[in-house]
Amino acid sequence: MLRFRNNVRVINSAECKACFAGIPQRRKASFALLRFNLDINYETEHLAGVVELPIYGEKIMFSERLKKLTPYVPGEQPRDRKYVKLNTNENPYSPSPKIREFLETCEIESLRLYPDPLATELRERIAEKYGVKKENVFAGNGSDEVLSFAFYAFFDNSNGNLLFPEFTYSFYPVYCDFYAIQYQKIPLRDDFSVDAEAYIGTESCGIIFPNPNAPTGICLSIEEIIRILENYPKDRAVIIDEAYIDFGGESAVRLINEYPNLLVIRTFSKSMSLAGLRLGFAIGDNGLIDALFTVKDSFNSYPLDMFAQKIGEIAIADEAYYSSVTKKIVETREELCSELGKAGWNFLSSKANFVFAGKKGIPGEDIYLGLRDRGILVRHFNIGKIKDFVRITVGTKDEMSRLIEEMKKL
Ligand SMILES: Cc1ncc(COP(=O)(O)O)c(C=O)c1O
Repeated sequence: MLRFRNNVRVINSAECKACFAGIPQRRKASFALLRFNLDINYETEHLAGVVELPIYGEKIMFSERLKKLTPYVPGEQPRDRKYVKLNTNENPYSPSPKIREFLETCEIESLRLYPDPLATELRERIAEKYGVKKENVFAGNGSDEVLSFAFYAFFDNSNGNLLFPEFTYSFYPVYCDFYAIQYQKIPLRDDFSVDAEAYIGTESCGIIFPNPNAPTGICLSIEEIIRILENYPKDRAVIIDEAYIDFGGESAVRLINEYPNLLVIRTFSKSMSLAGLRLGFAIGDNGLIDALFTVKDSFNSYPLDMFAQKIGEIAIADEAYYSSVTKKIVETREELCSELGKAGWNFLSSKANFVFAGKKGIPGEDIYLGLRDRGILVRHFNIGKIKDFVRITVGTKDEMSRLIEEMKKL
């Protein structure tokens, strides 16, 4: 039996055993299987995915909790050949050159000590940049970790389900399953935008959506966000995941003093070119921030290592460098859209560092596989009304010229 979950083909245990033939039993039965599972995914061109339960092994006791998990499957980080990698919305340009200066001179002696558990200086720098107080800032190990803490802190089902868009960042349902939070997916409007009205009119325990949304790239205006906040119960959190906001949307950070139930989550992974560092942060009322600290300190007191804290401080201060990089990416995105239009492709209007595109008559999976054969990786989600699109990260101008050339051949 083959089933599809997101863009991953879910295989049953017999097929899984076939994939695992020749791999020592010790590994099959070990917890490392969850990772291993992804390795298979890379090597067999997304033919395998989440592994069904019996494969966990017969001899070890696994918790019922573990057996119920369906982990998030990240975009491929391939090792089999060199690809033009446009599948995980990484920044094609280097991080700030000032980070190299720091790394060349840093004292390894400092690693003897634990890092600052409060990430004080980093939070001060972030606060200065966004015109808030340090008490309004929480920093974590990638925005994924900040999101996960926020799900734990703010959502349960006492007032109904958590609401998020039908097509959105696919980690949200994973966190819900992890923390046993019931959720309801709100359909996108016909034009694929987030339907602000629908969130107001539905009884719920909280709201979360990315702005711009992923994988569509469509941005909600600040007026529509205010409309949600004005009409939503003030005792429930509204979380806006601004992973891509620097590429053209208007941030909701300026609203945090007016709406103490608003939490804005940001990342260093996209516009600051530091996906490998794992750094993210949240800005909100200090009541919300204190709650995130409570979760952190119940889980891991030192999630941010001292280098990540320091590099984050350097990056946040180098506005001149990053605004020029962002400008280049936005220009390239607009050029890409214009070329796609000329070549007869459809695409959604994006305010992010990616473009969601498709072509009438070609299934999304064929676009994905066709480009992959030609050495270009994009992301495909084999679900519902987005299955005939692929999400293309905006790369360098050269990468985009090569992409367009290959797309024309499909
Ligand atoms: C909408 C959205 N939010 C959050 C993240 C997580 O980013 P990170 O954990 O790298 O900060 C991503 C990553 O692609 C994303 O697309």
